Amino acid sequence: MGNTKRHTLTAALPYTNGPIHIGHLAGVYVPADIYARYLRNKKEDVVFICGSDEHGVAISMKARKEGISPQEVIDRYHAMIDQSFQEFGISFDHYSRTSAQIHHQTASEFFTTLHKNNDFIEEFTEQLYDSEAQQFLADRFVTGTCPKCQYEEAYGDQCEQCGSSLNATELINPTSTLSGAVPTLKETKHWFLPLDRYQDFLKEWILEGHASDWKPNVYGQVKSWLDDGLKPRAVTRDLDWGIPVPVKGAEGKVLYVWFDAPIGYISATKEWARLKGVDWEPYWKDENTELIHFIGKDNIVFHCIIFPAILKAEGNYILPKNVPANEFLNLEGNKLSTSKNWAVWLHEYLNDFPGQQDALRYALTANAPENKDNDFTWKDFQARNNNELVAIYGNFINRVLVLTQKYYDGKVPTPNAFTDADLSVLAALKKAPKTIGDSLDRFRFREASQLMMNLARTGNKYLAEEEPWKLIKTAPERVQTIIYVAVQVAAGLSVLSEPFLPFSSKKLKNMVALPEACDWKQVGLKNELIPSQTQLGKSALLFSKIEDDTIQIQLDKLEATKLKNNEEALQVTPVKETVSFEDFTKLDLRVGTILSAEKVAKTKKLLALKVNIGSETRTIVSGIAEDYTPEEVVGKTVSVLVNLAPRTLRGVESQGIILMTENAEGKLVFVTPSEANSQPGFTIR
Ligand code: MF3
Ligand code: ZN
Repeated sequence: MGNTKRHTLTAALPYTNGPIHIGHLAGVYVPADIYARYLRNKKEDVVFICGSDEHGVAISMKARKEGISPQEVIDRYHAMIDQSFQEFGISFDHYSRTSAQIHHQTASEFFTTLHKNNDFIEEFTEQLYDSEAQQFLADRFVTGTCPKCQYEEAYGDQCEQCGSSLNATELINPTSTLSGAVPTLKETKHWFLPLDRYQDFLKEWILEGHASDWKPNVYGQVKSWLDDGLKPRAVTRDLDWGIPVPVKGAEGKVLYVWFDAPIGYISATKEWARLKGVDWEPYWKDENTELIHFIGKDNIVFHCIIFPAILKAEGNYILPKNVPANEFLNLEGNKLSTSKNWAVWLHEYLNDFPGQQDALRYALTANAPENKDNDFTWKDFQARNNNELVAIYGNFINRVLVLTQKYYDGKVPTPNAFTDADLSVLAALKKAPKTIGDSLDRFRFREASQLMMNLARTGNKYLAEEEPWKLIKTAPERVQTIIYVAVQVAAGLSVLSEPFLPFSSKKLKNMVALPEACDWKQVGLKNELIPSQTQLGKSALLFSKIEDDTIQIQLDKLEATKLKNNEEALQVTPVKETVSFEDFTKLDLRVGTILSAEKVAKTKKLLALKVNIGSETRTIVSGIAEDYTPEEVVGKTVSVLVNLAPRTLRGVESQGIILMTENAEGKLVFVTPSEANSQPGFTIR
């Protein structure tokens, strides 16, 4: 392909344990797709790869829950996810799946190669075991408190709160998600990847090599693991779902899902290349290929540490040039959750907003969680659609098409002398591919989407100021020029908006009769995109206004989900065992007031409080820091259990417990002695 650059773009392989929602789109697939379309638009050599991640405990758990086989689970969701991607215009060159034979083979070969090279440590160690379920507990089969950030629902391989990658035995208070049992330890043999051997290489490659071009959130996470020092990690599991470990003495064991899944990018590329009749190897082995992984922040450790170590050990592969991971998207103030049905599912969105894929793509891009977690609200979605897509982009295009039709029977007029206003609009158009492209090159998709919208804004403003509809009687020769200029901007917009709004761009290209050859580069080079006397196509509606009622339906739906979850939460908390009255009287509950509060260092959740309980002041450590700032709690009257044996939490001795409950939004709130005049020290009985 001449002097074009080769790019291998990967988007995280979604687990096929459920459909996909707006969080997936916003965090990974829309930015990846924008980037892929942008590069293709520049006529570069691109392969954009994805597929379903079909191994791992996530799948086994879903199968158990539904009483069906893992195969049935993956078939169902693979089809659904594949369809959603197509419907939203995510333009993978190939969407594969890790149950494919070519993947089993590729992943097994990797393992065998590393095994032969002595790149693994084989070791018998004690692992968590659920004797009730007769099952070793790895990954999502076990939860417990994260030793790094104290998050209480960390998995056996990873904490999704702080992103740490964990060994199951490091969890504090582990419990089996299979039976609820407290696990015991049992000896078993596994193959470990000694990540410590790659410490120096990773330091040099990332910390020294990518300090300025990787996103700060990605770089920061990587740095903190490297600073902590890397340890060997097991890459095999005692499970019955997965790729069998292809060496002797490993019967009944499978590859760890995070060993095989990233190799899935390679298997999928092989599959694509075979179908296309091209060679896959340059896409993974040629130093001139740019490999980019699009992922969410919970995947950083796997793509920046573990997979690169595997590729490095293999020896023949290139490493990613960048890993532009996004943070998380929330929905109306709460974390997206599949199990709580707190999500906007893509298949449901399409039912409710048929044909409006671009509106969602645009809202998610304009508000992408690029540098911090971000909130999706239906009001914002409505505003982006109505105030930007409809009122700016759509309005501009509509005016251009309608006026050309009305004054010139749809034929682009011949311009006369250009004014400064005309020239400055044409100059803005010519510059746009470079400015938008610069943002895209740096993975700043929000910014790029706004620069694109600014071009439409420029066009819209130009028409509003020049008012051709007023001049048509008095200065028709002037109107010819104005419409000619506006048509050029519309044509440019059809090219430059394609990565963001592929469906609308396609319609617009037809409307302005854009020549096949007009691509991103041409817009920046040519003085004329659509010659005069070109017959324009039929005008079609690009965007439609979304009414308040429509948005209210979505808000009501979420409200109903909330109510249902609350009811279920009440039902599923069973009443604990009966205690005797004597036992109850052993509890010494008192009224207290909070005198001061400060965050416990290096924790997200903990506040250390000084509490006046009448007779004395106690230090109490309370897990409320995510719901309250220290300033907010000072002065509050609270209920305190004062005769609990002291416990040391994160180095601070806690001398009691403050009673808390939850409100409907899941926020922790104090159980407050609300009757007037209760004083610190009064007992609660
Ligand atoms: N299935 C994983 C997730 O949803 C992502 C896998 S990405 C890959 O978090 F690199 F392993 F493929
Ligand atoms: Zn954590």
